[in-house]
Amino acid sequence: MARPLIVVTGWIPQAGMDVLATAGDVVVSPADDPQRADRLSAAAAIVTLLTDRVDHALLDAAPSLQIVANVAVGHDNIDIAACHARGVHVTNTPGVLTDATADLAMGLILMSTRRLGEGERLVRSGEPWAWSMSMMLGTGVQGRRLGIIGMGGIGTALARRARAFGLSVVYHNRRRVDRAVEDELAAELLDLDDLLATSDIVSLHCPHTDATHHLIDRSALETMKRSAHLVNTARGPIVDEAALVAALAGGTIAGAALDVFEHEPDVHPALRSSDRVVLLPHLGSATVETRDAMATTAARNVVAVLDGGAPLTPVLPPKGDVGVS
Ligand code: GLV
Repeated sequence: MARPLIVVTGWIPQAGMDVLATAGDVVVSPADDPQRADRLSAAAAIVTLLTDRVDHALLDAAPSLQIVANVAVGHDNIDIAACHARGVHVTNTPGVLTDATADLAMGLILMSTRRLGEGERLVRSGEPWAWSMSMMLGTGVQGRRLGIIGMGGIGTALARRARAFGLSVVYHNRRRVDRAVEDELAAELLDLDDLLATSDIVSLHCPHTDATHHLIDRSALETMKRSAHLVNTARGPIVDEAALVAALAGGTIAGAALDVFEHEPDVHPALRSSDRVVLLPHLGSATVETRDAMATTAARNVVAVLDGGAPLTPVLPPKGDVGVS
């Protein structure tokens, strides 16, 4: 019997490829592959990256598809309802990138509040500089309040790191987290406006959905403290980037640190030229260990489904729920 065809849309770590090879014939077929249509037409599984769009057009081209295994925890690149309507499983990679992303968010908090990107640019520029008492002063994080929007695994992991740095934690979430976690972190659930109005740093950890698109818009930015910093390691379109540009230029907030962008990989030119913002190229999960774990999680989902079993980490159909985590 012919082995099932598994299409992988771009490079993934060998650890994932090795697992996939146990379940079928594996081809790497990016969007510009001239043989892509043929390959999709025979594919039983597709392993996608967060830059791939999985929509009706792709599903029409892949009538034998059983599973879309996204190598990411986020899945706003996939039309989940369309997949489920055709009986195609969708999976993501929760858990395995929690620490890497929380580490990066903590790093961005420090970069923004302590002006680390600006300092690095100064040294690299070759401009003369000399230490002085007043040079490039930032603000300390100790005793400040961190507001976490989306208290899932990554938000909670960031809260743990932030507590170790002396920050207090409030959060906004669809539902209250376990009492034990709230107690451990001394974290308080607030409504969105209260969180925005009282936090010194606001960090986004919710999925990008219709409900969270432009959650941080002009009005949200105006609700924040003028001294506040915004950190986004979730998805770019949760923030209205034009409104953020205006808020940074007008001093509505003090600074921002972004790992993701509304029109990724394009970055608004005004952000590139602003010293008030730290910019990273979507590095949240970018460690060797994490990417290995993401690839093998996606691959194990493919193996489970092609073996006739249930996916290990399914993304369930949308329920019309409008929460942030
Ligand atoms: C990264 O952004 C992910 O969703 O895994």
